[in-house]
Amino acid sequence: MQKTAEEQISRILGSKSEERLLSSFFVLYKTARIVDRKNETFKNQSETFFKHLQPAIKSSGDIAIKLVNGRYFINEMMIRFDDQGTSGAASVVSEWKKFGLGGVEFSSDITKEGAENFFVFMASMKPSDENIDSIIAKLKSQNLSCIKLFSLSELQQNQSLVSEQMRKQFRQAARQTFFRAMSVAQEAMVNTATGKDVSTSKTRRVVHNLIDHISRDESSLIELAAIKDYDDYTYAHSTNVCIYSLTLGVRLKMDRARLSQLGFAALFHDVGKVKLPSDLIKKPDAYDENDWLQMQQHPLLGAKTILRNMKLDLHTARGARGAFEHHINQDFTGYPKLQYKKRPTNLFSKIIAIADSFDALTSGRIYVKKPIPPDEVLKKMHYQMAVKYDPFLLKIFTNIVGIYPAGSLVLLSTEELALILTNNKDNPAKPCVKLLGDKEKLFEEPVWADLSLPEHAERNIVRMVDPARYGLQVKDFILGD
Ligand SMILES: [Fe+2]
Ligand SMILES: [Fe+2]
Repeated sequence: MQKTAEEQISRILGSKSEERLLSSFFVLYKTARIVDRKNETFKNQSETFFKHLQPAIKSSGDIAIKLVNGRYFINEMMIRFDDQGTSGAASVVSEWKKFGLGGVEFSSDITKEGAENFFVFMASMKPSDENIDSIIAKLKSQNLSCIKLFSLSELQQNQSLVSEQMRKQFRQAARQTFFRAMSVAQEAMVNTATGKDVSTSKTRRVVHNLIDHISRDESSLIELAAIKDYDDYTYAHSTNVCIYSLTLGVRLKMDRARLSQLGFAALFHDVGKVKLPSDLIKKPDAYDENDWLQMQQHPLLGAKTILRNMKLDLHTARGARGAFEHHINQDFTGYPKLQYKKRPTNLFSKIIAIADSFDALTSGRIYVKKPIPPDEVLKKMHYQMAVKYDPFLLKIFTNIVGIYPAGSLVLLSTEELALILTNNKDNPAKPCVKLLGDKEKLFEEPVWADLSLPEHAERNIVRMVDPARYGLQVKDFILGD
């Protein structure tokens, strides 16, 4: 049976129950260092840990908690820890590093007492006196056969944990959501164009799915937004602007309700364009003055359309404002021109304005007729157009997109060509890429590579190259697995 996108994500990245198991593990681990096992806090936390461990054992058998390359795993499942969880685990992780310990496995016949024995045992180990071998030897003498320890080095060798298969499945789930968002945006926009009333519930559902993907893995959808060559670009553009805006919102730590409104507003920011003649939207030549005057109507038309065709609520009110304000510019040099008091635009409109310009300029499909490479667009936005955007938001956006934005083609020091897929937040010079070939020929099968991993240490980015020079289509490579 076909798995839904959500089921696929949970299987690959773990669900909330795995996160709770991991969190209760670290809490109990730390508690054991502070109080003895008769203490009420210890007892309660042991209870909580075992409550989370039992169902995991029931469904998966032995349960291993491991740390590989800074990522947490329960068995083969990578767990995304939130900021709180990560900081809670930080002291334990640094202690493990000193020991050379990479993980622990609880066998399926573990008892609560056995698990408590393990935590008490670990609390008695001092990083200054012990290493992984001495700990394993001491554990043996404790008769704790239901516990197995892994050394850091043995786990690091086993990098197949983040297996190619999982990565593919996760990207496929993200892709499904991306295309669903695009079709929902199209349906809603076409319906409003014909004056039909539009229900917002479908749109909200798909925006929530996008939020789920981005919250779990910020980069999951960014690479898809790099694809610009669609027949009808308006809907892909709306989806891309929604993805960029939501990613910014997640970085700003907006709550889910606000993210939902932001995503909704971003998805409909250009809805006014469906009221303009399609010849104008699709015009292949540069716009003349008359074209521009017509095009500049779309913010007002958009706000009116949303208010007329959708039930008024917080989503649609914010949507109407985003549609109206997204071209006004921080310095009011844009459109529509405001005749009266110039109020600063809303935060959502500022976010959408940045996402919109970046996507429009890199696509070469709207306003400019030739795509500008993503890195040049960012430079342009920083230097030539800094007055148009909120500087703080632009900085965060640049950080999200990275020095080498998704969809750029680069030459590596190994003389290989690579397509940038996603930015590595902690190491922007070393993004995730697809190795496409060398200067001579393309590889039969492009190879996915996280350049931040030690095995790719010799692969450094030398410079960006123009895909057209090599006759390459970015879309084929992003969707090509
Ligand atoms: Fe627009
Ligand atoms: Fe736009």
